[in-house]
Amino acid sequence: MHGLDTEKLPRHLAIIMDGNGRWAQERMLKRIIGHQRGVETVRVIVEECSKLGIRYLTLFAFSAENWLRPKTEVKALMALLKKYIKAEVSRMLTNNIRFNVIGNRDELPPDVNDAVQDAIDRTAAKTGMVLTLALSYGARQEIIQAAVQMAADISSGGLNPAALDEKRFSSYLFTSSIPDPDFLIRTSGEMRISNFLLWQLAYTELYFSNVNWPEFSRNELHAALRDYQSRERRFGRTSAQLQNRS
Ligand code: FPP
Repeated sequence: MHGLDTEKLPRHLAIIMDGNGRWAQERMLKRIIGHQRGVETVRVIVEECSKLGIRYLTLFAFSAENWLRPKTEVKALMALLKKYIKAEVSRMLTNNIRFNVIGNRDELPPDVNDAVQDAIDRTAAKTGMVLTLALSYGARQEIIQAAVQMAADISSGGLNPAALDEKRFSSYLFTSSIPDPDFLIRTSGEMRISNFLLWQLAYTELYFSNVNWPEFSRNELHAALRDYQSRERRFGRTSAQLQNRS
């Protein structure tokens, strides 16, 4: 048994899947083999999160900065993404999962974008877990495009700057339809946010696992979630205040 309280799971879990390259290099394998193994982990973790009843799962699959990697690695990652999305749509439909993407989709190769759109369309009516892939995603870029759009709406008269608050600002982000993450896991021992969901992570609980993504298992996920369940989320209040509220 996983020893988890299913009533106290994070509503939104976000994961920075790191360490594919190191996993491969430690075994004298090509980095792409690490990414291939990483896809296997994605399958396992998506299925487990959906079974546990997590409502929103967001995976950082390709950053805006990842375009700077060697062309062969970028090409191989794009091919893997397309293959994964095409192969998983039927499983998403069976598991009642709705597929979603955040990031600058215009930069994706057209065939990957088509696969993304097809998966979004076919799973649109699903009511279970929302699986979001961050693709060509950068949080600073996201915040800038929101600011540019807000400026345009202000000059056209559609937005009153005096009415601008956190909620309105959030509605201009790629994540407008999903709540902020409650819990963020990063694998591979790196302790950075790496330009991921900078606005949305303001009050998120952070967890760093030393395990590389290809070896991140159901058990590792359960251990992370148990850790989350042991924390007190105060949102700036005191512990005593929180106890008096309940
Ligand atoms: C980090 O490992 C991982 C990535 C840049 C890509 C993540 C992609 C996958 C898990 C596979 C495809 C994804 C899906 C959703 C099908 P790294 O290469 O940065 O590892 P390193 O830091 O050890 O070099």
